[in-house]
Amino acid sequence: MSDYFEQAAIVWDNPNRMQMATTIAGAMIRALHPRGTETLMDYGTGTGLVALQCRQHVGRIIAVDSSPKMLSMLTQKIAAEGILNVEPREWSVGGDTGGMPRFDGIVSSMTLHHVHDTLLAARTFHSLLLPGGRIAIADLDAENGEFHEKPGIAEHDGFNREHLAQLFACAGFMDIRFEEAATIAKPSSRTGALRDFTIFLLTATRE
Ligand SMILES: C[S@@+](CC[C@H](N)C(=O)[O-])C[C@H]1O[C@@H](n2cnc3c(N)ncnc32)[C@H](O)[C@@H]1O
Repeated sequence: MSDYFEQAAIVWDNPNRMQMATTIAGAMIRALHPRGTETLMDYGTGTGLVALQCRQHVGRIIAVDSSPKMLSMLTQKIAAEGILNVEPREWSVGGDTGGMPRFDGIVSSMTLHHVHDTLLAARTFHSLLLPGGRIAIADLDAENGEFHEKPGIAEHDGFNREHLAQLFACAGFMDIRFEEAATIAKPSSRTGALRDFTIFLLTATRE
């Protein structure tokens, strides 16, 4: 669990992040085109910005995160709005999967670059999916460490798409595709100059 996210939880929701979550959730739903009955995991759900957008399109979402404070913010929203099909759960890749259901799909937004072992994440997602299950993962394209405010917040400075495709193929995924999901304009933490960071959507299917 990272102190950074524990401290950020209370101020996480802001208009830019809410708008970004709407854009990314829209791309995920278009890519997965669920029927309405599916069980999804939202990995690294944070305060649930993406899970709460996706929930109207599926049956049930297990919204997992390693940060209790992020999950507490989501729990408050769920209670306030009487939401029944989003279930916050503290968990991270490498943790016990015994109590997890098997999923029709796994979505994740801007979390994979915080996970040290990307191949373990891909293998874990594969093991948690039902046959034919899909992933839709939005994350940063490779950048040179300018995205986060300071070093040490992220495990990866974004991802090279070809390399990431190889890791997911190695984990047993097929039909691996990338599309542009969004662009985030923010000041470089190195130069202070405003620049664009592109966010991809990786989709793939469990064999
Ligand atoms: C950049 S935030 C994104 C939150 C949310 N998906 C969104 O788009 O607003 C990354 C989230 O991943 C969580 N996280 C970081 N490392 C994690 C890990 N190894 N396992 C599960 N969650 C993790 C953090 O606590 C944080 O809530």
